[in-house]
Amino acid sequence: MSLKVEYCGVKMRNPIIAASATPTIGPMNLRRLDKAGAGSAVIKSVVFPVSKPGEPIQRYGKNPRPRFAVINKAGTGYDPALTAKDGYFTVFRYGERYPTPDEYAEGIRQLKKEIEMPIIASICAAPYKYDDWKKLAEIMQDAGSDAIELNMHCLPKIKHNQTDPGIVSAVKSVAKVPVICKLMADWEDPAEVGPKVVEAGADAITAIGTFGRPVLEIDAEKEEFLLQPAFGGMGGTWNRPVGLAWIARLSRAVNVPLSGVSGVSDWRDVVKYILVGATTVQVCGALYAKGYGLIGEMTNGIEGYMERHGYESLEDFRGKLLKDLKSEAQLVQDPPVKASIDKAKCVGCGKCVDSCFFTAISMKSKKAVVDQNACDGCGICTWICPVQAPKMTQVG
Ligand SMILES: Cc1cc2nc3c(=O)[nH]c(=O)nc-3n(C[C@H](O)[C@H](O)[C@H](O)COP(=O)(O)O)c2cc1C
Repeated sequence: MSLKVEYCGVKMRNPIIAASATPTIGPMNLRRLDKAGAGSAVIKSVVFPVSKPGEPIQRYGKNPRPRFAVINKAGTGYDPALTAKDGYFTVFRYGERYPTPDEYAEGIRQLKKEIEMPIIASICAAPYKYDDWKKLAEIMQDAGSDAIELNMHCLPKIKHNQTDPGIVSAVKSVAKVPVICKLMADWEDPAEVGPKVVEAGADAITAIGTFGRPVLEIDAEKEEFLLQPAFGGMGGTWNRPVGLAWIARLSRAVNVPLSGVSGVSDWRDVVKYILVGATTVQVCGALYAKGYGLIGEMTNGIEGYMERHGYESLEDFRGKLLKDLKSEAQLVQDPPVKASIDKAKCVGCGKCVDSCFFTAISMKSKKAVVDQNACDGCGICTWICPVQAPKMTQVG
């Protein structure tokens, strides 16, 4: 059995890539990821430093501290036990620091002599500054990057907030290594934007990044904003269903390899992305919540899954679920299903009564009973019940 994968010409020992963010911010982080067994890493985006006239060069990004919070429960706290149980969580961040191109070029040059893992350089410049995009790509490929990922979160606002394929074609005009387009606008239609960036020359697509999304979280009791009193950014498992839908829709729309990103928290999520067509899968927020050791847990988990299913390679299940994916109009409406209650299991808590929106469930002799005529067959009671007493059965 092998987890090996070739992603737009870049050979990797497994499909797990550390996404561009703080866990990939410097050479030391890349060494740790190599040691942790990552397939690859996309370095924290490289940008040209900005400065105001007369001032020393500023790093792009401000420095309010603290700047990270991991949250997954009411009151904005974090419970690792919930995360371990596959509960959703979110990473908030402010003031991310961007390394300079020179720092990164030097680091990559050194690392290429030391580590096994291929390195993907993420670059980011301003809208329409195509020459800056080209210059950054040249610096990073000359330093030895195995591929370039375009951090397209700087969407040209003036162009109706749409991804600009011009960035891809500009970088392709100078690139000697594969160019990956990271799509960042989840309001776009993957079936439209995917083919556009491929036509512009993208060798692969990463989807869907959430970096540029302005978000807020509030501690209700303290009546305070979380971390800083300003809009921040986030990552984490909350966005996985969006990411999965993007990869499924891109799989149908384009013929280039895809990298699934958003909400990957354990090996199951890696498998989910592959089942809808991803060649590689990127993890970011979960590394803040669980540390670099997560990579080894993920590769072990995927191996266990492949063994149970008798798969020899990732190709054996890549895109396997796409054939089952239907439009809403194609979904079979009949035969209908209705809920019934296993009386032996029912503990009489009444939770299903309270959450049945069709008033179909009532209590009789401390047990739930379903009025079959009123039941809509919606299935919510099967999720709400703490002891799995309701079940859905076909009628007719
Ligand atoms: C603190 C932080 C910094 C990030 N910096 C970058 C970046 O420099 N370039 C980029 O393309 N994406 C960046 N991202 C976005 C991540 O690469 C990833 O697309 C996003 O967090 C979704 O993945 P997740 O759900 O696994 O967190 C950043 C995310 C976080 C949380």
